[in-house]
Amino acid sequence: MPAGSPGGVAVRFEHVSKTFATARGSVAALRDVSGEVAAGTVLTLVGPSGSGKSTLLSLVNLMVAPDEGRVRVFGREVRDWDPPALRRTAALVFQRPALIPGSVRENVSLAARLQGRALDHPERFLQAVGLPGELLDRDARELSGGQMQRLGLARALVLEPRILLLDEVTSALDPSTVREVETFIADLCRRRGVTVLWVTHDLDQARRVGDWTWLLAAGRLVEARPTGDFFARPENPLTVRFLKGELVAPGEPAGAGMGERGAGGAGGEAGTGGAGADAGGDPADGGGNARAQPD
Ligand SMILES: Nc1ncnc2c1ncn2[C@@H]1O[C@H](COP(=O)(O)OP(=O)(O)OP(=O)(O)O)[C@@H](O)[C@H]1O
Ligand SMILES: [Mg+2]
Repeated sequence: MPAGSPGGVAVRFEHVSKTFATARGSVAALRDVSGEVAAGTVLTLVGPSGSGKSTLLSLVNLMVAPDEGRVRVFGREVRDWDPPALRRTAALVFQRPALIPGSVRENVSLAARLQGRALDHPERFLQAVGLPGELLDRDARELSGGQMQRLGLARALVLEPRILLLDEVTSALDPSTVREVETFIADLCRRRGVTVLWVTHDLDQARRVGDWTWLLAAGRLVEARPTGDFFARPENPLTVRFLKGELVAPGEPAGAGMGERGAGGAGGEAGTGGAGADAGGDPADGGGNARAQPD
């Protein structure tokens, strides 16, 4: 449980909002999101496509800065961190890692090289994610999609991050490898106290690996509960619909009502969520509050 966890709070979002300007108008990617992640726990983040999951992860290592609100990593606001130190502490792993041209060895050693050190036994990091050490001297661009995904993860582990930000990192893997990676990450969490924020579209995975699960819909944190309760006893009608597969990505945001609208609604702490019952097709307007306060 986050509250009272011996490790304290690893990540705290405080009334965070983020709007992107696009050629077709503005898009409110996050609206007044508040919540915290206890150190040494796994948070699984679920929600329809475009609901703000990747944006929320990107705030933690300051790939993206919030327009409003604060994000704290181990108590310190991310903009007060030295950026390289922040990115060593909180490593972001994407679904499709940006590999550098060259061998697998060069890719896996990249972080160490940037820190001015040689990486001893790079094969250990490959083996940790289920890749054979023999791959070290292969050209990274020759790897399969699943192998590349695992290489991206191995590369992040070299940093020995205290927080892992995982964005759909097992989507290209076969089921047995998915389980291997899940077990490996659960182990990191248990043995080394690593905190994991894990975005996934695979609800079974979210249930298997999560201690806590958050549902984002149209940029709002709708429900934040211990994972067992989230799936067994969802409280918010939007969560119920989402778990039934009925809540899909909202329509085109710009000009359709959600993009320009401010962060009306309750917001509140994790667990209280922002959105209420959804009367229409747009999860952004799920709560009466959002409609009543269109600032
Ligand atoms: N750099 C950007 N510029 C403009 N709009 C952006 C940018 N990044 C995200 N968005 C928009 O913000 C919203 C949230 O995007 P985000 O990538 O966080 O969603 P997501 O929940 O991760 O979706 P998916 O499940 O499809 O990965 C979307 O409407 C998206 O188009
Ligand atoms: Mg995403």
